[in-house]
Amino acid sequence: MGRSQSDPPKSNDQTAISSKRKREDEAHRRDLDSKRKKLLVTRRQLPIWTHQKAIRAAVRDHDVLVLSGETGSGKSTQVPQFLLDMFRSSKIAVTQPRRVAAISLARRVADEVGTPCGSSSPASTVGYSVRFDQSTSPSTRIKFLTEGMLLQEMLRDPKMSQYNCIIVDEVHERSINVDLLLGFLKQLLAERRRGRNPLKVVVMSATADVETISNFFSKSAPQTNGHSTPVPGTDTEDNTAEASSAASWQGIADDEAGAPNDEVNASNDTKSSVNICHVEGRQHPVKTTYLPQPTEDVIDTALQRIFKIHCGEPMPGDVLVFMTGQETIQNLQKLLEELAENLTRDFPKLLVLPLFAALSQTAQQRIFEPAPPNTRKVILSTNIAETSVTVPGVRYVVDTGKAKIKKFRNQIGLDSLLVKPISQSSADQRKGRAGRESAGQCYRLYTEEGFMSFDRDNTPEILRCDLSEALLKMKARGVDDVLNFPFLTPPPREALEKALMQLLQLGALNEDGKISKIGLPVARLPLTPSLGRVIVEAATLDCLLEVIDIVACLSVENIFLNVDTEDARGKAQEARQQLFRRQGDHLTLLAAVQAYASETSDRRRWCDDHLISHRAMKGAMDVRKQLRAQCKQAKLLPEKAEVETENGPPYEAVSDNILKAFVRGFMNNIARLCPDGSYKTFIGNQTVAIHPSSVLFGRKVEAIMYNEFVYTSKAYARGVSAVQLRWLEEVIG
Ligand code: CDP
Repeated sequence: MGRSQSDPPKSNDQTAISSKRKREDEAHRRDLDSKRKKLLVTRRQLPIWTHQKAIRAAVRDHDVLVLSGETGSGKSTQVPQFLLDMFRSSKIAVTQPRRVAAISLARRVADEVGTPCGSSSPASTVGYSVRFDQSTSPSTRIKFLTEGMLLQEMLRDPKMSQYNCIIVDEVHERSINVDLLLGFLKQLLAERRRGRNPLKVVVMSATADVETISNFFSKSAPQTNGHSTPVPGTDTEDNTAEASSAASWQGIADDEAGAPNDEVNASNDTKSSVNICHVEGRQHPVKTTYLPQPTEDVIDTALQRIFKIHCGEPMPGDVLVFMTGQETIQNLQKLLEELAENLTRDFPKLLVLPLFAALSQTAQQRIFEPAPPNTRKVILSTNIAETSVTVPGVRYVVDTGKAKIKKFRNQIGLDSLLVKPISQSSADQRKGRAGRESAGQCYRLYTEEGFMSFDRDNTPEILRCDLSEALLKMKARGVDDVLNFPFLTPPPREALEKALMQLLQLGALNEDGKISKIGLPVARLPLTPSLGRVIVEAATLDCLLEVIDIVACLSVENIFLNVDTEDARGKAQEARQQLFRRQGDHLTLLAAVQAYASETSDRRRWCDDHLISHRAMKGAMDVRKQLRAQCKQAKLLPEKAEVETENGPPYEAVSDNILKAFVRGFMNNIARLCPDGSYKTFIGNQTVAIHPSSVLFGRKVEAIMYNEFVYTSKAYARGVSAVQLRWLEEVIG
């Protein structure tokens, strides 16, 4: 359209700017298109590619498709694209157990589709949503999101009406959220089938245990209360006939599949029709080497192995090392970097990259970038890289055989993190990472007998974790009878009862078991019920901004860098100690955030001067921004609460209130000082020591409150503050 008479004439500058922008847009489009074409060649070689039509037919003709296939066969990246034009007017959701996978998949699929990713352009059709980071546009059609985020969306929109297809990926990980999601989806399928907007569900797994999932969906959904409408006349008998007669993978010939359309079929039956498919993998041979004897010092053995690979193996290729957690990873990283400095020029350089859940997104995404010339990447990862993410270029895997596993300890009524041997299936997944692109090598830092003693499979999280978060989500979705919820694996009744008790104690449920006025905002915050309760309490105690700052720090990696006492740089150590607060870690974190936020000149330098991780601090600032927005949305914080806490009244005035808010959410994590100088928990009377990383380490106070219970060489409390016993009564009211 031409310019109207009333438009002001454009200046030469404006014209130049607008034609420059046009040229840039055009160049960007060409760039995206050439990337798309290049990737199409790779996509066509994926094992899943030849099954495209059959997958579409299976989804068109059934409510649920259960698709199994080796990691790397192309499930996560291709299936959403295969299905996209079957659902012309709505979105496809693809869930992932982990943030890093959701983001990297969104970026990869955006490149393959030839569209900008996320919120970078209003025309972008592929986006993602993870805790504290939403990156979608009005045009988003494929949305990768963590299971937790989809559950959050379900609370806001119980019918999930914006989606016609929900793909639940990586089900073999059996996270508690995925189990919950499958239960909700089973109920939703029955509801949506009766409406005009049927839902299709694709469940994808790297292992072949598809029968359980298929049987689960082909049984009738039980009656539900609340948002989920009861299904009249349903029974609970196993619909084996339907499950077994469901078209098998080979049963659908490509030419039977028909042309793509948005008229997907939906049956009127109250039971879901399920189709099972399997895609073969593409795995190169991987040679496995065990240790002849068990090792006493796994870090040292890993260090030696990595250097043997680097200096001794002729094949190029990156190294992926599986470790237990942030601390061991950072220790090994430091040692590797020190030793790598002494490498002679005859060897390539080493680039060491950590990968663990609490790491910032930017740092996590670095593992996907190709190493610079003449450099070998060594990725030190927790079990995140086991199945969720594909790191290109890996040819060597070093497996310590251990992982940090969350376990609910009935005795103390808390989740604790324990370092445990992995399962045989995890070990095999880890090994498989070496054979993605070519033949590889896997070094197991344990003996073959050790491997034989591992459990065959992982125990689903729902059988070993605190269920309070899951239960609160169920209650918020109107599932009042949690004992009859369709769980893929029903958790023990005792664990459900414990979780109900905890929610009652938090005040998140009323006496009648229904969600309370306090419980609703707690369920909607992307935090554990305990932390959510702290936030709600802080709103009433007038210290919400401060508490958000602390919660933001607790949600990211440790902000204080590990320092060896010998090499601690005197002045920096002194500067850091000025941030330490005698009341403990919570107020220390607050002091650090506030000092960082008020630093306007050079924040990176400030971090160096205080031995604080700049990366962690930037992450905490992001989380703080998001939490503030969410608290405003939940009306816990007034719209105009943008005043920086550092400009507000000094927090000393509210420091007791801050700690009281934490006591309200963490009443089960309180231990009192005993005459023998030890701390014993109120619940379970268990001895717990203050972790050496705490500013309260070595101090004796009346009682302590802590956020985390870790069991390494002994039982440790982490994230600890001194509290007064009389606060307990005051807080309970
Ligand atoms: O889901 P599944 O494990 O079956 O495979 P996928 O995640 O779809 O990955 C298929 C292939 O895409 C991988 O082998 C990688 O080569 C590539 N890919 C990638 O380069 N970057 C990603 N973020 C994801 C996949």
